[in-house]
Amino acid sequence: MQMSNLQNKRILLGITGGIAAYKSADLVRRLREQGVDVRVVMTAGAQRFVNPLTFQALSANPVHTELLDPEAEAGMGHIELARWADVVLIAPASANFIARLAHGLADDLLTTLCLATTAPIAIAPAMNQQMWQTEVTQENLDRLQKRSIHQFGPAKGGQACGETGFGRMLEPLEIVDELSTLFETGSLQDIKVLITAGPTREALDPVRYITNHSSGKMGYAVARAAAEAGADVTLVSGPVSLSTPPGVRRVDVISASEMATAVMEIVEDCQIFIAAAAVADFFCPHVPDQKIKKIGEDEMTITLKKTPDILASVAALPKSPFTVGFAAETEKLEEYAQDKRKRKSLNMIAANRVDDPALGFHVDENALHVFWEGGEKELPRAPKQKLARDLIELIAKKFSQQK
Ligand code: PMT
Repeated sequence: MQMSNLQNKRILLGITGGIAAYKSADLVRRLREQGVDVRVVMTAGAQRFVNPLTFQALSANPVHTELLDPEAEAGMGHIELARWADVVLIAPASANFIARLAHGLADDLLTTLCLATTAPIAIAPAMNQQMWQTEVTQENLDRLQKRSIHQFGPAKGGQACGETGFGRMLEPLEIVDELSTLFETGSLQDIKVLITAGPTREALDPVRYITNHSSGKMGYAVARAAAEAGADVTLVSGPVSLSTPPGVRRVDVISASEMATAVMEIVEDCQIFIAAAAVADFFCPHVPDQKIKKIGEDEMTITLKKTPDILASVAALPKSPFTVGFAAETEKLEEYAQDKRKRKSLNMIAANRVDDPALGFHVDENALHVFWEGGEKELPRAPKQKLARDLIELIAKKFSQQK
């Protein structure tokens, strides 16, 4: 069973009305054992089989039941929930729910979320064997398959109604196993990827430094996504307080010049370089040995010098890897990002605005506008991990086309 890649994933578990809803309680436990953050949405039918309190206790999160509940919307509204999820999993998915999903209804919270999300959707059907076999259910499932909705099971066997046949929901561990395969894209299998992340810190004296607001979250999310895609990932990280994503090799640095040295040593061996770090543009070339004294001083002048442009240096290498930059802008996003892409000879640039406090630096969400020669793609506002996965898929596609 390959389950470790579910660590830190956000699974929105939809529970619909069916006797198999009792197994979903164990499913929540199994998911949490894998480090999954689970949020549960229950339909009205599901609540007749199992009390929402059970899922609240097991998931350690409030259970969502109503589309038009002002209190719930004030916490995490349906659009936030739809954006939050890495995957929407409906287990059990009843025949009625499958029909409503197949026809694009949005008459309760769960169906609305399914329309509003850009995350992959998976269903684990559970129903009486005759309901499963019937033509209209199979037609509905064909429709869902055409919309790339994943189907886990059902299994064959004895049913709660006393009949035997297909329609049993998969066991929780089997569902967990199926779910983990959704995160294995293999799109960068064995490709060596070097990523920079976080801020750099430039000393002014032994106790003071200049830096910026980067937390490293975006770059770390990109490193995690690249590892999930099968890449051999090295992360050169400025000073941040984040843990290393699983399967990623990390090299810690402090200043821009240390980052430049580490990158230039490692990059020769790499096929892709992604610069998500917010590298300081200037440093203090003469750092005094002692603390600068402030007594009697109303003003102070510090002479700064330009740091090495790591990204441009990598792109200028005779055998440069596929090179992806980031552009953090407060205005004229496209114009400035395209200028950086051309000036630094990049294969691709991911531009983000850093003037909105809800996006960019430090927070968990972002939005990217990605440019390459002759093309562009907008990745709308979403959690950084989700954006990172979409960005890695885009990079993998362009990288393989270029090869
Ligand atoms: O870390 P978070 O809090 O999650 O925030 C994410 C982020 C906003 C920092 C990230 O998404 C981002 O935009 N990173 C790049 C920030 C930046 O420095 O942008 P820039 O436009 O100043 O630089 C352009 C590119 O050149 C970047 O890829 C940068 O890594 C690179 N660069 C810049 C200067 C330098 N001396 N060397 C470089 O390699």
